[in-house]
Amino acid sequence: MTEPPMSTDLTGLTATVTGAGSAPADVVGNGRAVATLLARRGANVVAVDRDASRVEDTASYLNESGGSCLPLVGDVTDDAFCREISERAVAEYGAVNMLFNNVGVGGPQGTVVNVDLEKWRRTLDVNVTSMLLTSRYAIPKMVAAGGGAIVNMSSAAGLVGGHAHIAYAVTKGAIVNMTRAMAAQHGADGIRVNCVAPGMAYTAMVASQNMTTEMREARRQRSMLQTEGTPWDVAETVVFLLSPAAKWTTGVTVPVDAGRTAGERSNPVFVFDKEISS
Ligand SMILES: NC(=O)c1ccc[n+]([C@@H]2O[C@H](COP(=O)([O-])OP(=O)(O)OC[C@H]3O[C@@H](n4cnc5c(N)ncnc54)[C@H](O)[C@@H]3O)[C@@H](O)[C@H]2O)c1
Repeated sequence: MTEPPMSTDLTGLTATVTGAGSAPADVVGNGRAVATLLARRGANVVAVDRDASRVEDTASYLNESGGSCLPLVGDVTDDAFCREISERAVAEYGAVNMLFNNVGVGGPQGTVVNVDLEKWRRTLDVNVTSMLLTSRYAIPKMVAAGGGAIVNMSSAAGLVGGHAHIAYAVTKGAIVNMTRAMAAQHGADGIRVNCVAPGMAYTAMVASQNMTTEMREARRQRSMLQTEGTPWDVAETVVFLLSPAAKWTTGVTVPVDAGRTAGERSNPVFVFDKEISS
């Protein structure tokens, strides 16, 4: 028997992570957690965020703890900046092999009846078009490097109805099928495209929304595992999908949600009191 090489080792590969900052710095975000795990597995990381101090914090943390991270400051809805991301990655590290499209915002409140149209359009830009822009410049570089892997960030809100804000639900749903379409269009070039759909993990974004202990407890109880997730739970799945360990996996969306979108939690009230046989 011949064993394949260790497939989680990312030494020598380069990954771009968008939204790689976190605020407040003591609560990690999904982007920073993924950037950290990638660095721990040996990858060079290009960390992108529109907030300079957040992304510089991520880069200092990684560079001071044995990793190699290039921070880039800009807005991923800006076409010229997205071109620059891939060009700077190649100039610094020689290639682009992996891309984690993580940037996403909660967007405006409201239904189709009353959502603010300008904010709706901005949310489409930030949550969906940004992924098109980063990918359009990364994919040719990945092809030049012999192939690559992309993971897009959706949400449990993109898999089921029930989210209160139409803009978030629609954009996160769009990312699921964008992933399948990208996977089909670029698979023959050796580009894998997958997606993760987290449930409510406790991240910097959530912390900044002043979520009360009661609200966190209510969310926790809605999942099958009855635990609150962390960005580290999300990051393990993202890094698996980016790594050669997932080299035969493309076009899928993996819920990372303690079972929240798989169905309702088993309820003892619904256990039948006698066996039913035909
Ligand atoms: N927090 C959760 O429970 C949860 C659940 C499901 C999905 N998600 C998704 O995870 C992703 C990250 O969420 P998080 O909670 O870790 O957020 P976060 O606020 O901790 O981090 C997001 C980062 O993205 C940056 N950013 C925002 N807009 C940008 C832009 N236009 N250009 C460049 N950078 C920009 C922010 O400055 C911030 O540092 C989002 O796509 C979100 O929808 C989060």
